[in-house]
Amino acid sequence: MGIKNGLLCLLCIGVSCRNAFAQIKNVATASMNKVNLEFSLDRSGIPQYAVFYAGKPVIKPSRLGFKLNDTLSLDSNFQVIKLDSAASDETWKPVWGEVSDIRNHYNQLTLYLQQKNSPGLLMNIVFKVFEDGVGFRYEFPIQPNLKFFVVSGEMTQFNLTGDHKAFWIPGDFDSNEYTYTTSKISEADAWKLPMLSFGNKSENIPDQFAVQTPLMLKTADGLYINIHEAALVNYPSMQLHVNKATYSLSANLVPDAVGNKAYLRTPAKTPWRTIIVSDKAADILASKMILNLNEPSKIENTSWIQPMKFMGVWWEMQIGRSSWNYTNNIDSLSSNGSLIPHGHHGANTANVKSYIDFAAKNGIKGLLVEGWNKGWEEWTGDWKEENFDYVTPYPDFDVKEIAGYAKRKGVEMIMHNETGGSAVNYDRLIDTAFRFMNRFGYKAVKTGYVGRIIPRGEHHDGQWMINHYIRAAQKAAQYKVMIDMHEPVRPTGLSRTYPNFLASEAGRGNEWNAFSEGNPPEHETILPFTRLMGGPMDYTPGIFKLRNYAKDAPTRQMHTTLAKQLALYITMYSPLQMAADLPENYAAHMDAFQFIKDVAVDWDDTKIIEAEPGDYITIARKEKGKNNWFIGAITDENSRSTSIPLSFLDKGTKYIATIYRDADNADWKSNPEAYTIEKFIVDNTLSLKFRLAKGGGTAISLIPATKDNVKSIKMYK
Ligand code: NOJ
Ligand code: CA
Repeated sequence: MGIKNGLLCLLCIGVSCRNAFAQIKNVATASMNKVNLEFSLDRSGIPQYAVFYAGKPVIKPSRLGFKLNDTLSLDSNFQVIKLDSAASDETWKPVWGEVSDIRNHYNQLTLYLQQKNSPGLLMNIVFKVFEDGVGFRYEFPIQPNLKFFVVSGEMTQFNLTGDHKAFWIPGDFDSNEYTYTTSKISEADAWKLPMLSFGNKSENIPDQFAVQTPLMLKTADGLYINIHEAALVNYPSMQLHVNKATYSLSANLVPDAVGNKAYLRTPAKTPWRTIIVSDKAADILASKMILNLNEPSKIENTSWIQPMKFMGVWWEMQIGRSSWNYTNNIDSLSSNGSLIPHGHHGANTANVKSYIDFAAKNGIKGLLVEGWNKGWEEWTGDWKEENFDYVTPYPDFDVKEIAGYAKRKGVEMIMHNETGGSAVNYDRLIDTAFRFMNRFGYKAVKTGYVGRIIPRGEHHDGQWMINHYIRAAQKAAQYKVMIDMHEPVRPTGLSRTYPNFLASEAGRGNEWNAFSEGNPPEHETILPFTRLMGGPMDYTPGIFKLRNYAKDAPTRQMHTTLAKQLALYITMYSPLQMAADLPENYAAHMDAFQFIKDVAVDWDDTKIIEAEPGDYITIARKEKGKNNWFIGAITDENSRSTSIPLSFLDKGTKYIATIYRDADNADWKSNPEAYTIEKFIVDNTLSLKFRLAKGGGTAISLIPATKDNVKSIKMYK
């Protein structure tokens, strides 16, 4: 363990030693337990790295570097001028999270490189080697011949050792809202599915063989590898181009409107490139490497940041029962000059109040209302710059009245700021928007970026938008508002730095089941290994009415059982969890809704009990500050029997286990809403056995029992 710098570098400064460096395979290495990193320069001074797990290669020697412009590149001719090693082992407490304490334990190796050709540019590469993988980033120090510069390409490669099984979505510059394909990496084809982002293929998915990260891989001999990035700041998102013949992946940076990738000024640094590796799939889900590679919180007083559950005047619009817009035609006005309502506008005061009543009665803290503000008649599709002003309600939405009513009932209103892609308009009006939230007591906002981005030609995942999302999170923090973003770039652990950035969508959420053919039963067994590796997802679980909900598509159905919808509150981690269905659909199943009422959203501990991407996931979590545990177990299209040892429970304590499981005859397709609820007394010596239906799940709450409970409820056998 530790850092073995070899003899090399400090002695081998300069040209004459370069050959020695290469010939005697003098490499710099760093390791931590089973993970080993090797850095080397080849004969042309090209920096390379390789990663090993338990002695086996994970990433074969892969090049590092950049193309800048026609005359400058940072890709070869390097020599090592200095090498540093460091180690760290500290534990920190996230403001909210899956666990209360996070260990940040790594060995670090920094290579200070200089090009031998004129003008002798400098670049550093920093590697951090953890027990569960490797992160590395580039630094561009202040130097006489490089100040402002443009990155036209990043050369970073991840050379795989074989044609691994991959869980991938297309490398679309503007969307992550795809279903996953499981195939050999050589079969990845970004043009396989119809494009989902607005725009056209040649602009949004120009590379047929590019995939998004996090990319989840499994080798033939059972190694799980996850490739992503951490701390994506002032730089475009990284996609991976797949070389089908060599199984080499290379960084594809999302371009800006004129085709450049990043505009930097020294000193500058890139995001971390991350390779998480283990022989156990559960370790991938338990990894905290991406959070560890992000900066600590920049927000000092975080007492106002509170995880919560929320409902929304929302699903009714998704399923076509009501609408976001108020009128059919904003050009036709009544004789007194006012808008003519079409009569099915969802965000009207009476309807909002009924949701407030339901949320208040059932202890659901937040309420999102979409379509409350003017502009929804022309909100997307037309590449319109000034689409919303973020402060003008429709005539039937009484902001003041609703704010007062919610306050009296103890419900927190959640603001909705859809930008329709016009980030430039949002940037202009953002202070106005947040002042409005402060004035009416909104402590959280959901933003959205449906549509083509303005500034025109920019992409959702390019450097300009990356900086926009961070600006929005910072602005929200300035006004003490929590933020949840829809359609942003996928997360890279920035919620550590901005803990008011509670969640984002950035993936294919439950909502796709409302208005499209939906998500297959395996979808939620893949998302935690892909989209959620960078941070929480606002997946919007909790749909109870699983058939005959979509107004214009009566035969449409969700690809899930009701019990699985409950289990998602545990398996899809988020500090912001929506109870997404309509109050009336919950009212029809108040016994099952009890789980949503009880389930926590912030945790002291998490145990990944079993997991296999694409097949199943079982997770147990301990509520923050309490001795309550919650378990979620989900499966794909196959039914499954499992047995969960309760050894994580406190020794000697008896708990009431309330099990919300698929009924014996449940099946996502033929009988999705059939569930069974059972209560038992359990302790840590027992194992709970259950069967998940096809497309099914099980949710369990474990609450310490009183003496009376122990007498009246039967012991689990
Ligand atoms: C897409 C979001 O994902 C969805 O939740 C929202 O309702 C619509 N955009 C409208 O903003
Ligand atoms: Ca969306």
